[in-house]
Amino acid sequence: MSAKEDSAIQIKDVPSNERGELFPILEESFEGWYLRHSKHTLMDSEVVREAIVNEERAGLVILKDLGTKLGYVYYIAVGRKFRGKGIGGKLLDNSISYFFDKGMQEVYASIEEDNEDSERLFESRNFRKTSRAELAKKYGTINSFVLLRKMVAVPGEHIMVRQLSPSLDSK
Ligand SMILES: CC(C)(COP(=O)(O)OP(=O)(O)OC[C@H]1O[C@@H](n2cnc3c(N)ncnc32)[C@H](O)[C@@H]1OP(=O)(O)O)[C@@H](O)C(=O)NCCC(=O)NCCS
Repeated sequence: MSAKEDSAIQIKDVPSNERGELFPILEESFEGWYLRHSKHTLMDSEVVREAIVNEERAGLVILKDLGTKLGYVYYIAVGRKFRGKGIGGKLLDNSISYFFDKGMQEVYASIEEDNEDSERLFESRNFRKTSRAELAKKYGTINSFVLLRKMVAVPGEHIMVRQLSPSLDSK
């Protein structure tokens, strides 16, 4: 993406009373249980950010604090016609900076196993796959279950993680 296109993407917080206007992006991005859950989460979450391109709502990200200095990218979605233009990447860069500024040490995401676009997006920002066993080793079995519950991670999803070091390099 050129610098000009990149600067045309603006990221901003979305107040609760405007969030319903983001439903069409979720409807183009998810189906079934995920769609219902993403809509519910959009309305309930503390932090929702949107990407605006040419005054249109192009994408969104829903962020969650898992506690103990761990951040979570709950949902990230870009409207179909806006995909492949760097908007998901910019929303994720913004999310990583948000968690870094809050003093988080790691950022997690949970993605469906066959969701290649999403996997590429997270890998492009240095997320790597972790496992339920690795989480249990790191945080203890019970704490890892609590974390997975807070993520609402279900079987058939990859858990991805990125460390946030003091010298933040988002790419
Ligand atoms: C996943 C999703 C958010 C990606 O958004 P996007 O705006 O299309 O992503 P971007 O254009 O910013 O691409 C992100 C990165 O993925 C990689 N990528 C994207 N398309 C690629 C392709 N066709 N080939 C190789 N790499 C690709 C690039 O490395 C890019 O990084 P860059 O910014 O350094 O170029 C979007 O496909 C989507 O909304 N999907 C449906 C919802 C969903 O599954 N969300 C994730 C689970 S919550």
